[in-house]
Amino acid sequence: MYYPEFESAFEAQFQKHTASYPHAVEYHRARFNQTIQYLLSSILEQTDTLIQQSETKWAHTEEIVGDILYSGEITVEQLFALELPTQLTADRDFETVKTKLYETKYYPISEHLNYISFPPALERKAFIGKHLNCFKEKSHFCDLGFGPGVLTAFILQQDSSWQTKGVDISQYCLQHAQRLLRKKEVSERSALSIGDIRSLHYPDDTFDGVIAVEVLEHIPDPETGLLEAMRVLKPGGYLITALPVQLPLLMHLYDFDSPDEVLALYEKVGLKIIDFETKKFQRQSGSFIDTFALSVKP
Ligand SMILES: C[S@@+](CC[C@H](N)C(=O)[O-])C[C@H]1O[C@@H](n2cnc3c(N)ncnc32)[C@H](O)[C@@H]1O
Repeated sequence: MYYPEFESAFEAQFQKHTASYPHAVEYHRARFNQTIQYLLSSILEQTDTLIQQSETKWAHTEEIVGDILYSGEITVEQLFALELPTQLTADRDFETVKTKLYETKYYPISEHLNYISFPPALERKAFIGKHLNCFKEKSHFCDLGFGPGVLTAFILQQDSSWQTKGVDISQYCLQHAQRLLRKKEVSERSALSIGDIRSLHYPDDTFDGVIAVEVLEHIPDPETGLLEAMRVLKPGGYLITALPVQLPLLMHLYDFDSPDEVLALYEKVGLKIIDFETKKFQRQSGSFIDTFALSVKP
């Protein structure tokens, strides 16, 4: 990271955009103080792409920052003063991750920030967008581990006859996502709740589409979650999944070694794979592969 270069390049952008995108400008300017560098460490990985973004994309940034402030019920000032989650230990224990990370106000906000320009997040959204034409009018979806609710809102915005349910383990994510859906005026077609993907409270064969994006690796046994996702999917229904490979974060309780291991899991549970993409992403700490799959329940 070369902060002086970023700062001068950003400063030039700030000057141009202060009048049009006050939230975004305020937000990015403040990023360079010490607190924000730590708080938004995920964003730091986005600066390379962010700095090069065309002028029209500043509107996208501004919209997302506005969404975050509204959904997180937080002002820019409070955002920067937000208490950080206690450092996770290397225990990789579900309850620890839940209490120290998921159940913090910080968590949905940091996940939401990824949708500004973090390439893997944009790729997940693009993969879903590419396959939404599989779904007919009045389709019912379920978003497993909806996090900040960005993907739930995105799906509902594509067709006014669609409905979405969803579960997440985090109370903070639920509140954040529900507010986002209200802001996007799609909340009447949604029913999000607290739940665990290892044991879903929906009957068998309920949904036309199930989304399990970057969540199965958050449980120690991804197969349990995958079988639950399949159980609630109607026969002939589509499952959209995204799973990282070789990304051993502390909240990832299962590490996939290769795309082949991911594929083997889908095949083992009997899914019929229609599209499987892999993309390599660079992080500060090295590279990792993300896998994206569209499959059907026979
Ligand atoms: C990396 S985020 C992904 C959020 C969202 N799917 C997206 O792609 O924007 C993982 C989410 O899974 C949730 N989660 C983790 N374990 C879970 C479990 N056992 N049951 C339900 N949700 C869980 C977390 O609270 C978090 O919101």
